[in-house]
Amino acid sequence: MSKGKILVTGGAGYIGAHTVVELDAAGYDVVIADNFSNSTPDVLDGIERITGKRHSFMEVDCSVREEMRRLFETHPDIDAAIHFAAFKAVGESVEKPLDYYRNNIDSLLFLLEELTRNSRAGGVVFSSSCTVYGQPSKSHLPVSESAPLQPAMSPYGRTKQICEDILSDTVNAANGRLKSIALRYFNPIGAHPSALIGELPRGVPQNLLPFVTQTAIGIRRELSIFGNDYNTPDGTCIRDYIYVCDLAKAHVRAVERVLKLNGVGESLEYFNLGTGRGLSVLEVVNGFMEATGINVPYKIAERRAGDIEQVWADPSKANEVLGWVADTPLEIVFKSAWEWERKIRQKI
Ligand code: UFG
Repeated sequence: MSKGKILVTGGAGYIGAHTVVELDAAGYDVVIADNFSNSTPDVLDGIERITGKRHSFMEVDCSVREEMRRLFETHPDIDAAIHFAAFKAVGESVEKPLDYYRNNIDSLLFLLEELTRNSRAGGVVFSSSCTVYGQPSKSHLPVSESAPLQPAMSPYGRTKQICEDILSDTVNAANGRLKSIALRYFNPIGAHPSALIGELPRGVPQNLLPFVTQTAIGIRRELSIFGNDYNTPDGTCIRDYIYVCDLAKAHVRAVERVLKLNGVGESLEYFNLGTGRGLSVLEVVNGFMEATGINVPYKIAERRAGDIEQVWADPSKANEVLGWVADTPLEIVFKSAWEWERKIRQKI
């Protein structure tokens, strides 16, 4: 018997697809809504091969009110939503701020309009980001949910902050009828162990691990490490890299919680999703080479504008309240990223 029907906007995207797989494994029915703005229909085939099931799918641009309405008219029995659909490239957001504000904010507004109108659906889980913390002071590392928020460094980051505020106000006004959880992701990496779904960056990858795997396979000549003169043990920046399948599982726990708490309490809840372990860029590159046995040529380059020096999570609230922990060994994570890179290059 199904535990409920969950709408996954952006369900053909990187984290969305992995979450659909975990929701299926946990016994939920899933409706995927995506417009393939940063993914392809192949992802749906990958999900089907992993789960053995073709999940409901609607091609929907969530930032168009009529399309969101059509989605809920077609599926009036949605119990909760996970909202991944958003633009996410930091650099692009600086060049095209209006596209980012319009897309990321409108899509949340239209989803909330439907959720507050719809008498059945009572919960929404939102994809937020550790970007809301900016560069935490040393005394706030590892960073917990109570650390002060800082003005975001990019329009992308600002959309996440604004969306958290919109959620908070909406939940407060709903008098217990709408429950919401904002999940603040640290740096998701890796791919499903089947290598049937994974991250597919368009063009030159901006994120570290896709650049590493593309260099390992020979598409890129060498990796540039952006700065080795930071105030960190080896001089390179530190992040909290979390396995995408672990991250996906946290969404199942969050959905369980919003469904259970529906009608109880008023405030938006926030959870950091990270491992609690900070890794430098050099540690990632060396760890990848050790795990896979593949050499990754690299050079030290200039700092990248806007980079945060170091941030990693205190995930204890998610560990305790959601009963979730990110515990996949790094070696497995790096190998999964490498298997996925090899698989997609065979296909292309
Ligand atoms: N890096 C390199 N070379 C590269 C790519 C990245 O040295 O080719 C370094 C970066 O300088 C940084 C680290 O690797 O120190 C991680 O960079 P990513 O771009 O992979 O990740 P960021 O932490 O910069 O950005 C991520 C998400 C954003 C989000 C941000 C929140 O990609 O969406 O975390 O802090 F806003």
